[in-house]
Amino acid sequence: MTALIELKDITKTFLTEEIETRALNSINITINKGEYLSLSGQSGCGKSTLLSLLGLLDSPTSGSYLINNVDVSSLSRDQRAKIRSEQIGFVFQSFNLISDLTIFENVMLPLTYQSGFSKKEIAEKVHDVLAKVEMSHRKDHFPSQLSGGQQQRVAVARALVNDPAIILADEPTGNLDSKNAQAVLALFDKLHQDGATICMVTHDPISAKRASRCLEMFDGRLIADNLNTPSHQKLASSVAAIELVAS
Ligand SMILES: Nc1ncnc2c1ncn2[C@@H]1O[C@H](COP(=O)(O)OP(=O)(O)O)[C@@H](O)[C@H]1O
Ligand SMILES: [Mg+2]
Repeated sequence: MTALIELKDITKTFLTEEIETRALNSINITINKGEYLSLSGQSGCGKSTLLSLLGLLDSPTSGSYLINNVDVSSLSRDQRAKIRSEQIGFVFQSFNLISDLTIFENVMLPLTYQSGFSKKEIAEKVHDVLAKVEMSHRKDHFPSQLSGGQQQRVAVARALVNDPAIILADEPTGNLDSKNAQAVLALFDKLHQDGATICMVTHDPISAKRASRCLEMFDGRLIADNLNTPSHQKLASSVAAIELVAS
């Protein structure tokens, strides 16, 4: 297996009004290419902070972070932004689409931060990822014209368009009803089968079990790191499907 990401002894401390919060405490994780990780734990345990560090939105107080063997733990803001735009795809709980851009324009946005793509290449890439999430027919609509589930699928397309090394999703189904949540989780299952590396924060134990590896945090620490068998993953998808029919 090839290591994509290596976190070594990562800590993150926030200082606000003389109160010190240690949000992450001695975190060690190696993420291999093609893994689908779930990250769970109670509110305030540090999940979002860890995802922000993984996504280079912030840097650790101490420790080292290697992505594709490059140390990114102490880069400048601009250097982090460059690597982020090339290697990271984000999906947020609240979709974060831009309301006055069309679906097509929203999805193409990450590509406009990178130079070197022709108009034709951009159109092809956007077309491909919209097809992957089954939203091509809505490309000229605006976000407010779509359901929450559709907006989240567009957000996944936007995360995929620059062909990132890893997709980071923070409670991606948190704002969705169960039917739309299942559609987004099924999309993640498919992306994983196609080889994507994914790290998803979720508080739902059944959703967590769909991942190939389940991480659990408590109070800034990693307290569990378990590989999940394919049969357990299948079972979790089936349970979700049965619950959906029953609801
Ligand atoms: N920007 C920040 N400034 C100060 N404290 C923060 C900040 N972000 C997170 N924290 C604190 O760090 C801890 C972990 O937060 P977070 O990562 O958001 O938890 P989770 O996503 O698991 O709910 C919490 O105690 C939170 O209050
Ligand atoms: Mg959070």
